[in-house]
Amino acid sequence: MVENMLSCCAIFPESLVTMTLTNKKIVLGISGGIAAYKCPELVRRLKDQGADVRVVMTNGAKEFITPLTLQAVSGNNVFDSLLDPAAEAAMGHIELAKWADLIIIAPATANTIAAINAGLAGDLLTTLCLATAAPIAIVPAMNQQMYSAAITQQNIASLSQRGLHIWGPGSGEQACGDVGKGRMLEAAEIVTLTGDLLMPIHPSFKILITAGPTREAIDPVRYISNHSSGKMGYAIAQAAQLLGGEVTLISGPVSLATPNNTHRIDVTSAQEMHQQTLALAQQHDIFIACAAVADYRPSEVSGQKIKKSSDEMVITMIKNPDILADVAALTQQRPFCVGFAAETQDVEKYARGKLRNKKLDLIAANNVSVAGQGFNSDDNALTLYWDKGQQELPLANKQLLAKQLVLEILKHYNKQH
Ligand code: PMT
Repeated sequence: MVENMLSCCAIFPESLVTMTLTNKKIVLGISGGIAAYKCPELVRRLKDQGADVRVVMTNGAKEFITPLTLQAVSGNNVFDSLLDPAAEAAMGHIELAKWADLIIIAPATANTIAAINAGLAGDLLTTLCLATAAPIAIVPAMNQQMYSAAITQQNIASLSQRGLHIWGPGSGEQACGDVGKGRMLEAAEIVTLTGDLLMPIHPSFKILITAGPTREAIDPVRYISNHSSGKMGYAIAQAAQLLGGEVTLISGPVSLATPNNTHRIDVTSAQEMHQQTLALAQQHDIFIACAAVADYRPSEVSGQKIKKSSDEMVITMIKNPDILADVAALTQQRPFCVGFAAETQDVEKYARGKLRNKKLDLIAANNVSVAGQGFNSDDNALTLYWDKGQQELPLANKQLLAKQLVLEILKHYNKQH
């Protein structure tokens, strides 16, 4: 298991991975719940982002996962006792409490939450929480009934009022077979929330996004289109806005509410989207082409509804302008250009081809042949490609994924400027 995890870390050479938590010092406190099995993955992802991670385990946690596993993935000794002279000599608990930029408690059981709320210091983990000035993030994980118990809710509300961060829990099927709220957030979600908490705020930026499908008219009542729902592009608009961006969203026909503080321009056809985008591109710092633009349109649009007169009907199609390529070809005030690649095979080959041919700064590829992601789903997974590197953004809901994507884009944009 340790070997597998270590080999995962080596998929990309370090120089090709962009990191959001470089030099951040994180104490991960693990208490005794079944979700502790997610912790090696969490440690690995925090380290992938450049964080230095020290693990603290309660006795309960050690019933679910071994300190040796956490030592192997973190690359540091694991702390599990308040009264261990050797550990205290290496880094005492007060020193550890002062060392941390952030303490994450994941999983945080009902018992640990209650102990922290009561100010108890019966073990190393709760002692650290009392002794630190660093922010503390609680990631609850427990049976849904225990989570909804009035006393647990009271404890969580009280910690939240005192400024501790409460991350999750998620809902779904639980290890005990129950279904409901109480699942620990996934490692990727926790890493994103950590980045949001510890990363400096970005200076303001202006971002233009295309989203949704286009419709190419055949006659007044018929058109050619695709399955894009707009969810991915709208999630990007919302994430960009939350991260401080001034957002313009050029949208094909979708049935989604406009994200807060977003200037939305509705269009129908690829030609309309092209015209609106080119008119605005030079006023923006970043352009993200997430729309599923029809590559072709009927060469003629009938002014009247076409009548059913024969067994066959042939529609001649002509090429639409390539919006993204035209923006990327601008020679003055060209925005940082990010494309999407919707592929069903040879994802890297085709995505890198589009990156090169359209002269983009970055491309986000999604494999739209995989069920449950891509077109018209709530989740997606992306691989980002740029000239000298690549990065995976694993399967997550589109809101979370969009936030990760915008943060990555901002890092690349900032490097260029
Ligand atoms: O809307 P959802 O249901 O949430 O689904 C999201 C999505 C699958 C539509 C999205 O993640 C995605 O992949 N969008 C791009 C779809 C697409 O058209 O990909 P493409 O590989 O055919 O095009 C490559 C790039 O060129 C895209 O950035 C596209 O916006 C752009 N393009 C394409 C043709 C054209 N005429 N003009 C363009 O700007």
